[in-house]
Amino acid sequence: PIPVILDCDPGHDDAFNIMLAAAHPAIHLLAITTVAGNATVRKTTLNARRVCTVAGIEGVPIAAGRARPLHGAGIVAGNIHGDSGLDGPGFGEPTVPLDPRDAITLIRETLLAHPEPVTLVPTGPLSNIAAFLLAHPSLAAERVERIVLMGGSTGRGNRHPAAEFNILADPEAADIVFSSGLDVTMIGLNVSHQVPATADVLARLEALGTPLSRLCTDLLTYFGTTYREVFGFEAPPLHDPLTVAHLIDPDLITLVHAPVAIELTGTHTRGATVVDLDGVTGRPANARVGTAVNAPAFWDLIIDAVRTLG
Ligand code: BDR
Ligand code: CA
Repeated sequence: PIPVILDCDPGHDDAFNIMLAAAHPAIHLLAITTVAGNATVRKTTLNARRVCTVAGIEGVPIAAGRARPLHGAGIVAGNIHGDSGLDGPGFGEPTVPLDPRDAITLIRETLLAHPEPVTLVPTGPLSNIAAFLLAHPSLAAERVERIVLMGGSTGRGNRHPAAEFNILADPEAADIVFSSGLDVTMIGLNVSHQVPATADVLARLEALGTPLSRLCTDLLTYFGTTYREVFGFEAPPLHDPLTVAHLIDPDLITLVHAPVAIELTGTHTRGATVVDLDGVTGRPANARVGTAVNAPAFWDLIIDAVRTLG
């Protein structure tokens, strides 16, 4: 199995990514680190523990990371994920513990302890990952296999017309990741908008008939309501699990090598991912960029994960 560290801000779609990574035999989930994004880091950390508790995911250390971006004040996405960051279902008190280490220490110690290079999977703002790369550049070069992230877009944004939320929330961190020289894969809105959680998906989840499947439909129902209100979408895109789905099945998402630049100073475009798909800049490719996805195969993975976790 592929050894993975998830760095996330749960978050409705992050929650499904945690479940997919824990459930699928092709993935060895070594650790979960949390970051401020969809809600404060206190809330996203609590949410990671809640998700692991309800899904029966035990023995995976969860450590809290940065409360703020590298520069400036943070933004949250309460309009999409609710005040808790995971509004919709009721959660009891989590029984899965919080690891006493901070996220950067947990990433470092996990990389040192694992015999093979590890894949980092960030699905929130890139603040933790950039802080780790700044603090431990040679360890990262030696022990990070790949970075497979959800963020950005080859087209328009969501939180801003030109910027996707995860990149907009910490553009300097994104710039560090994309300039790192590591093997970076970007799966952005142009792909995730191809996997809306339709009524058919909800019906398939509901048909599983377990407490976890009911919680999952509650999550997607809430997510669907805010996506309808804020964006007028018929169904909410399940962005984050495309990362782990890509690792499980490399044929699921079509990738192209391309130069990606992060806009740091634009008057109206800070946080934009400028993806040169046509090679007009002459810049060298620094990322693999998702362009298309086999949506039915993706949903099969999600449904199977919820079934496996019971
Ligand atoms: C990204 O922003 C967050 O709201 C989601 O969890 C996802 O990671 C989509 O723009
Ligand atoms: Ca997220």
